[in-house]
Amino acid sequence: MSTNTDLKDNMATPTHTPQLQAFRDVVESRRSVRRFTDTPIPNDVLADCLRLAMLAPNSSNLQPWEFYVIDDADNRKRAVKNCMNQNAAKTSARLIAVVARTDIWQSHAQQILREYPDKPVPKKVKDYYTKVVALDFLRGPVNVVSAAKWGATQVVRRLKGPIKSPYYTFEDTKNWATNNTSLAAENLMLALRAHGFDSCAMGGFDEPAMKRLLGLNSDQHIIMMIGAGERADNGVYDTQYRFDQDQFVHYV
Ligand SMILES: Cc1cc2nc3c(=O)[nH]c(=O)nc-3n(C[C@H](O)[C@H](O)[C@H](O)COP(=O)(O)O)c2cc1C
Repeated sequence: MSTNTDLKDNMATPTHTPQLQAFRDVVESRRSVRRFTDTPIPNDVLADCLRLAMLAPNSSNLQPWEFYVIDDADNRKRAVKNCMNQNAAKTSARLIAVVARTDIWQSHAQQILREYPDKPVPKKVKDYYTKVVALDFLRGPVNVVSAAKWGATQVVRRLKGPIKSPYYTFEDTKNWATNNTSLAAENLMLALRAHGFDSCAMGGFDEPAMKRLLGLNSDQHIIMMIGAGERADNGVYDTQYRFDQDQFVHYV
């Protein structure tokens, strides 16, 4: 286990540490791959990639994500069809639905208190997960609690200064869950690359059909499908390019 102090001691300033080079290699060699070879992804490799995915930063450590690895032959056939028969799905060694959950904040807050590594759980932590988190997410029937939260937030902002807006609507919570889950999805794709495999994120799929196939409820949102496998020689369709950094980065 490494502590914060170990990490700080290891934080070298040179521009070419081995870690930096390894990180660049992974990020710069990742491409969206649309054709994969027949080489399978071993289960232990996939498990490690998923473990790394779930080390993604996430708000309040509530971990609102799920990953459905569609291995069953019949399910896979239907899932590929739901991905509009894209090659990235059809030729993939593994096909994964990345799901954001809007219904788990409460049960995960309770689970954190049960599984918290330090015992006894510090009062600050208990208060945070029983009060702050609850206030942030509670909406009540027809958002009645949200209306009160909105009013209180306006008052506090005016009288006391900056305050983080809580989540008022289902869409706010969905945005929160999607945000967090996307970070895990990126970790997953980079982990696959680091293991010598590749991936393609897919937004081009029939979500209602895919949800039916996986038996998901209205609080489970497939934010993307990921096709993964070994890159085929003709797997990358185009030259990678991005717009100029100046267009997006603002030093204010
Ligand atoms: C959320 C998301 C959805 C995407 N959907 C698709 C898709 O349905 N089909 C596809 O071929 N590529 C899809 N892509 C891949 C993008 O087209 C690709 O990332 C982009 O063109 C940049 O290329 P690169 O990933 O090789 O750098 C998607 C990527 C993301 C992040």
